[in-house]
Amino acid sequence: MYKIAVIPGDGTGPEVVREGLKVLAAVAKLRGIQYETVTYDLGGERYLRTGEVLPDSVLAELRTFDAIYLGAVGHPKVAPGILEKGILLRTRFELEQYINLRPVKLYPGVDCPLKDKRPEDIDFVVVRENNEDLYTGIGGVQKKGTPEEIGIQVMVNTRPGIDRCLRYAFELTRRRGRKRTVSIEAGDLAALPADAVGKTVEFIHRDRGKMVGKLVAKSEAGIQVEVAGMLTLCAKTNVLTYTDDLWWRAFHEMGARDFPEIFRDYAHVDATVMWFVKNPEWFDVIVTRNMFGDIITDLGAIIQGGLGVAAGGNINPEGISMFEPMGGSAPKYTGKNAINPIAAIAAAGMMLDTLGEHEAAAAVEAAIMAVTPKMKSMNAGKMGFTTSEVGDLIVNALR
Ligand code: IPM
Ligand code: MN
Repeated sequence: MYKIAVIPGDGTGPEVVREGLKVLAAVAKLRGIQYETVTYDLGGERYLRTGEVLPDSVLAELRTFDAIYLGAVGHPKVAPGILEKGILLRTRFELEQYINLRPVKLYPGVDCPLKDKRPEDIDFVVVRENNEDLYTGIGGVQKKGTPEEIGIQVMVNTRPGIDRCLRYAFELTRRRGRKRTVSIEAGDLAALPADAVGKTVEFIHRDRGKMVGKLVAKSEAGIQVEVAGMLTLCAKTNVLTYTDDLWWRAFHEMGARDFPEIFRDYAHVDATVMWFVKNPEWFDVIVTRNMFGDIITDLGAIIQGGLGVAAGGNINPEGISMFEPMGGSAPKYTGKNAINPIAAIAAAGMMLDTLGEHEAAAAVEAAIMAVTPKMKSMNAGKMGFTTSEVGDLIVNALR
């Protein structure tokens, strides 16, 4: 019996959560999954009424659940930051949800703003570190209100924080099992591996260390190897020479030691966003710091069809995880039965997957993929269906 805490939250949050719970109930019935839910009225309304954002007693209760399902936080009458920091970020930090998992997948029939890109071209995952970096709130101001005012926000990156994030990302890449063939120029190799085409070889990348793959071809120019998957580190080593040198070393040390069969790719964050638009098919799994992950996943969301479809999981692999649609509370559409519930439904699917209900999660995704081709658009008010109709279509498509 799973215990799930539900926080519908603000704006359109309750509308999309309703559809997510509808699909959850249907798939649970189909697959014989037992669960119960408890709803919490956290959000802007409660704050305006009582002044409470996230009472300690509620946080203590949240710790007793198996998972948390969240709609959205953010209210037009509440100053920006209060609810976001007080509910979302506080839960992410206090429950040590140190991974923010954001799959970027173009479902069939969904309009993609990128020219000539199809579902097979856009299918990767961003692993965003979720407990450190510019999000720790360390910093301050000096000379406030004067022409010389100074604002400081500290980018905190720790070796244990990086390592646990990297380990999750490497393991995910291994689980995805997306084999690919990569070319490595001779100049990037410490030494050309022994000529053993067709065999598994170890090779030393000049500045990245040991990796392992099946040798496909070899010439003076370099080698081609089939690797078991690819993890891209997205950072900014050319400017952030302290923090990102740390990420770089941690990445290659762990990879060479524990995951040599995973090809270790690297892209600066500015190049990463360029590749998202030009060559999204390049990516398999991307691992990055909190701040970069926040930014690149909004671009990720838009290339997969928008915030109406993008889902995320705040994951504590050893504890309680929280799942949410990436979109906000969308005050403009509140109460209109017009918002797209797919992101929230996909978030419920991710929740099932993380709870270990892999078949149920796959069933939810298959049902989503059966319904997206029938929708006119992924945008609120333009779907050709209401919010609740999309939920019903997905329920009916469940197998
Ligand atoms: C997100 C959001 C949050 C973040 C905000 C609302 C604090 O943008 O989940 O990506 O920056 O993480
Ligand atoms: Mn964001």
